[in-house]
Amino acid sequence: MKVGIDKLGFYTPETYIDMTELANARGEDPAKYLIGIGQRKQAIAPVTQDVVTMAANAATKILTPADKQSIKMVLFGTESGVDNSKATAVYLQTLLGLSADVRAVEIKQACYGATAGVQMACDYVRSHPTASVLVIGADIARYGLNTPGEVTQGAGAVAMLIKADPDLIELEAESVFHSADVMDFWRPLYRSEALVDGHYSNNVYIDFFNQTWQEFQNRTDTNISDFDAFLFHLPYTKMGLKALRTITSDDQHSQDLLTEFEAAKKFNAEVGNIYTGSLYLSLISWLVNSQTLASGNHVGFFSFGSGAQGEFFAGNVGPSTQLQNLKMQMEASLNQRRQISIKEYEAMFEARRPFEAGDYAFDLSEEKAQFYLKGQQNHQLL
Ligand code: CAA
Repeated sequence: MKVGIDKLGFYTPETYIDMTELANARGEDPAKYLIGIGQRKQAIAPVTQDVVTMAANAATKILTPADKQSIKMVLFGTESGVDNSKATAVYLQTLLGLSADVRAVEIKQACYGATAGVQMACDYVRSHPTASVLVIGADIARYGLNTPGEVTQGAGAVAMLIKADPDLIELEAESVFHSADVMDFWRPLYRSEALVDGHYSNNVYIDFFNQTWQEFQNRTDTNISDFDAFLFHLPYTKMGLKALRTITSDDQHSQDLLTEFEAAKKFNAEVGNIYTGSLYLSLISWLVNSQTLASGNHVGFFSFGSGAQGEFFAGNVGPSTQLQNLKMQMEASLNQRRQISIKEYEAMFEARRPFEAGDYAFDLSEEKAQFYLKGQQNHQLL
């Protein structure tokens, strides 16, 4: 039985900053941000968007009434939840008008949560073939103003419908995971910005990729020549390139894989790090931008969440009848955004601090999304 990703929906806030402007403001050479880090733009979330509203805005683009009927689980991967107790998935269930006959939970492991969701969803569908599962990867990546991590921030949500006989990607059951308790990136409960040992986190990422990829080859008796593309968690696009380069050489197949990577990084360079959704944004980017995409293409996925958890898994491109819709969706998402100045961004960044207790209403004059946050009342988000 084939199981995997049937539909992909994406949402990113309507405001962004340009990385050349950020470099100039921070006294850095723009080439460092554009080439050394590999980012062009960074999505900035207004206070009226959080992970729940972003996820709802992403999911509503793909779900038909029949899809909603078939959804039996909502698995929400995020490290930027909106409540210390209640799961983002439960808010989402209400916003999307899903039935009450649903298991709705939140999954946290830094940038890896959505992959845990995808794998659990596939396992569930394998034993319940008529059911489908909504998996979300949504985050607002925050390191802080004037920090080395600032250039690797971003915001957005990917919504995935997992079901039998999927249209976009059929996922193989074999996958290799690796976990170790390391302090490369973390966010204590009292902080809204991550703490990170940046260069160490790069090394942990590469180490986990090499370990899981090696073990995957051993278990499946495959090698690099069996793959048409490799997709990576992209905290910044150069990170995936660094990992890919550890397994490529000068031969033609390696050059082809590097060309596919160019397609797979394009949208991530325009949005920034969306933590747990980043691998799946890269999947969208590859599906939309690859010049050689064909049904049956074999693709490897490397998912990584600091702290740390890594997983290598694989899949095949399905019939992809919805590719045109996905292209139009991405054009609308990325081309209708508004660039803001670094000064405006800094003010928006400060406004996003954890809300204080009290009642307040946000200014909604700039908000164009279908789902948005209106404010807070009686200790509840509106
Ligand atoms: N022109 C071109 N390239 C330049 C340049 C210039 N003028 N100046 C510097 N560069 C290059 C450097 O050579 C370097 O490239 P390589 O890594 O290929 O050598 C690159 O630009 C970055 O330079 P630095 O390493 O000096 O940059 P930095 O010290 O400011 O830190 C960083 C970079 C560690 C990625 C930092 O942005 C950071 O901490 N980011 C957050 C952590 C992160 O994203 N880690 C990734 C792995 S963890 C993960 O994946 C989970 C997650 O999502 C967080």
